Amino acid sequence: MLEEQLNLKAIIHSNRHFMKSDFGELDFESDQDKGLTQPPLTKKATAQGSIQLPTEYADVLKEANYFALLEARKSQRVYKQESLTLEQLAFLLWSTQGIKSTRGNQYATVRPVPSAGARHPFETYLAVFRVEGLAPGIYHYLPFEHALEFLHEVDDLEDEVSRSLCDQKWAAKGAVTFFYSAVPYRSEWRYSILSHRVMLMDAGHVMQNLYLSSVAIGCGTCAIAAFDQKVVDGLLGLDGEEEFVVYAAPVGVV
Ligand SMILES: Cc1cc2nc3c(=O)[nH]c(=O)nc-3n(C[C@H](O)[C@H](O)[C@H](O)COP(=O)(O)O)c2cc1C
Repeated sequence: MLEEQLNLKAIIHSNRHFMKSDFGELDFESDQDKGLTQPPLTKKATAQGSIQLPTEYADVLKEANYFALLEARKSQRVYKQESLTLEQLAFLLWSTQGIKSTRGNQYATVRPVPSAGARHPFETYLAVFRVEGLAPGIYHYLPFEHALEFLHEVDDLEDEVSRSLCDQKWAAKGAVTFFYSAVPYRSEWRYSILSHRVMLMDAGHVMQNLYLSSVAIGCGTCAIAAFDQKVVDGLLGLDGEEEFVVYAAPVGVV
């Protein structure tokens, strides 16, 4: 028992250290410093064919007053059993992880959310339940193409999504559940041992845009950090080492 407590103390100490910017006397060179090749800015498509997403959002915006959006933002865990249109989904994908421009020679992407060093270390996956024009299943967002690729069907999608999110049943009752994975080397390449702290900060910006954009289109969402890592990575087909889920959120009409 005492040993367990000591271990817990050690873990808390090291986790606190992870939150700090100060790595003391530790001297390190990042892979970028060493001149190693930069990893790709986004993950390449693996499926054949993709679904092009709309780029016009004027019709989906129900609330554009910024103050009203902030007033209305809250975590929504009850959703109507209504479908999202492809335009609504496209707007959510663009406003969280869409690409507005590229810096340098494929050096960095510029998106609606900030990211330390513009590394943007995330990929977006969707469990689609009710979106017009999309069959239910698991999809991956291709931000350069602003398209979706269909990855696979899942038997009992609702049960599997809820199981992956520690049996939070409401989290599989929206129109779509977003999953954000981290591809840590994108940020490690530049920031090495300092990257992990800022990657989780980056994730917060993505989620805040999902909250505000959901309100803007008459929907609601709720951030989820409680998930079963192995189950959720397995659901999306991620290896759990070079890529793993860090955040999730259902979106539904409210
Ligand atoms: C990082 C993070 C993780 C969260 N994880 C969960 C979760 O797993 N389950 C849940 O029901 N709510 C989760 N929430 C939602 C919070 O409970 C919610 O934001 C908080 O109660 C404040 O309510 P509000 O968002 O309506 O202002 C999470 C929120 C954040 C920011």
